[in-house]
Amino acid sequence: MTSRLRGELTVHEDPAALSAVTRSLRLAGHPVVLVPTMGALHAGHRALIRAARAIPSGRTVVSIYLNPLQFGSRHDLDRYPRSFDADLAMCREEGVELVFAPSVATMSPPGGDTTGDTTVSPGALGAQLEGASRAGHFAAVLTVVATLFGIVAPDRALFGEKDYQQLVLVQRMVADLQMGVQVLGVPTARDADGLALSSRNIYLDAEARGAAVALSAALSAGAKAGGQGHDAVLAAAGEVLARQPAVALDYLALRNPQLGPAPAQGPARLLLAATVGTTRLIDNVGLQLSAGSNGRGAP
Ligand code: PAF
Repeated sequence: MTSRLRGELTVHEDPAALSAVTRSLRLAGHPVVLVPTMGALHAGHRALIRAARAIPSGRTVVSIYLNPLQFGSRHDLDRYPRSFDADLAMCREEGVELVFAPSVATMSPPGGDTTGDTTVSPGALGAQLEGASRAGHFAAVLTVVATLFGIVAPDRALFGEKDYQQLVLVQRMVADLQMGVQVLGVPTARDADGLALSSRNIYLDAEARGAAVALSAALSAGAKAGGQGHDAVLAAAGEVLARQPAVALDYLALRNPQLGPAPAQGPARLLLAATVGTTRLIDNVGLQLSAGSNGRGAP
C-alpha cells in the first residue's frame, strides 16, 4: 500500500502515485500548490497552508519529509521534533487534500543510500550567512526541493520568510534552472512577544525563551533606524543584542532583498542568527533604508 485515505486527506508515500494524482489535478484545471515541510507543524506552517488553500481552484500538497542531508550532525537530526499524527491532524483541520510523506529510502537514488551523485549547487550565496556556519546545508535543501518539485510538479510552492535565505535560493534555483514553478514567500508568524515561530523553539527552556525575544526586538530596532541609514540600522540592532548576555550572536547582516550588498537607500533585509541556550535561532525583517551623509551611515 503506497497511499491511505484518512478522512478527506490522502497520504501518499510513493512518489509515482503522488505524481499521477497531481498530473490528473493539473489536467482537470487545478493549480497544484506545494507546501514543503519537515513536519513538526506549528502555527507558521498553518499560515503557509492557509495561503496555499486561498489560491483559487488550487489543490494543496503538504510534503512532510525530514531531509537527513540538511542536518549538520546526527545529533541535530535525532533531536529534531517529530509529530506525524498531529501534523496530519493540522492538515485535515485546514482542509488539505494531499500529504506526501515519503520514506528516506524512496527519496534516495535507486539502489543508493541518501546520497545521490547529482546535487544542486546553491552558488556563492550558499556559503554566506547560514551557509557559512552550516557547510553543505543549502546544497542539501535545494537538492531535496528540486526532487520534490520533480515529483509533485507544482504550479506554485510556498515557503516561509523566516528562512529568508532559503526562500531566495529556491527562487534563484527555479529561475536559473527554468523550473517553471512560482515560488512565493509567506510572512513570518510570530508569538505575541515577537519571537518567530520555529519547530526548534521547543528546545528553549524558560530562561532561554525569555532571552530569545531579543532577536525580534533587535530586528525591530534596526528596522526603525532605517531612515538614518545603513550603519544606524546595525548599531540599533546590535545595541539590543548586546544587552542580552544569554544571546550568542553568530551574524547580524544588512543586505538587499536578493541578499546581495545592501543599497544606500531603498528596500533591504536585516538578518541574524544567534545561539540562545543550546538552540540556534534565525530571524529577519524587511526595511527601507535612507542614505545618511556618507551614503551609508547616519546623517
Ligand atoms: O524549510 C524547511 O522546512 C526545509 O528546509 C524544506 C524546504 C522542507 C526542505 O527540506
